[in-house]
Amino acid sequence: ADPDPLQDFCVADLKSSTSANGFPCKLSSEVTSDDFFFDGLVKEGNTSNAFGWSVTPGNVLTFPGVHTLGISMNRVDLVPGGLNPPHLHPRSTESGIVIEGKVLVGFVSTANVFYSRVLRGGEMFVVPKGLVHFQMNVGKGKALIFTAFNSELPGSVVLPLNLFGSKPSVPNDVLTKAFQVDEDVVNGIKSKFGF
Ligand code: GLV
Ligand code: MN
Repeated sequence: ADPDPLQDFCVADLKSSTSANGFPCKLSSEVTSDDFFFDGLVKEGNTSNAFGWSVTPGNVLTFPGVHTLGISMNRVDLVPGGLNPPHLHPRSTESGIVIEGKVLVGFVSTANVFYSRVLRGGEMFVVPKGLVHFQMNVGKGKALIFTAFNSELPGSVVLPLNLFGSKPSVPNDVLTKAFQVDEDVVNGIKSKFGF
């Protein structure tokens, strides 16, 4: 969903202080093979957290060679029971393939219909642009997923962190009304995300 490129490539110069809708290009004379290969998704991420999850991005910020090419990928690691919590990508459709493990993948449409399936190694899924989705490891071992995006920087709005972990904090009145719960419930959730 990103704009089409106007040249073969434009390896992002992340160090440049100037940037408009994207980044300036690295000088062609300085572009090498290294700019088009990325080993950052080789290693398992750190899953020692409350969600038992890790997302390692291969987007323009970590792999500047994808700049202007309209694509990127992530590596998702989940411990048994681990959850990639409900989130959405404002700028991208997502496709994914489970490499290892047994994963419940689901998304909810704008009509509030829930679509889901349990996937195993080699099976793919797609999440339409902007819809809320998650992946949960429902197997006994680790799960490994690779995801792909039609954006160099899909962005991720992680709902629990977005609503209950923002800085400054969203007012409790808004959250108690929105979720129809008492203030202690809201404070309880906020306390899990740093308040
Ligand atoms: C998975 O949903 C991801 O965003 O990589
Ligand atoms: Mn996603």
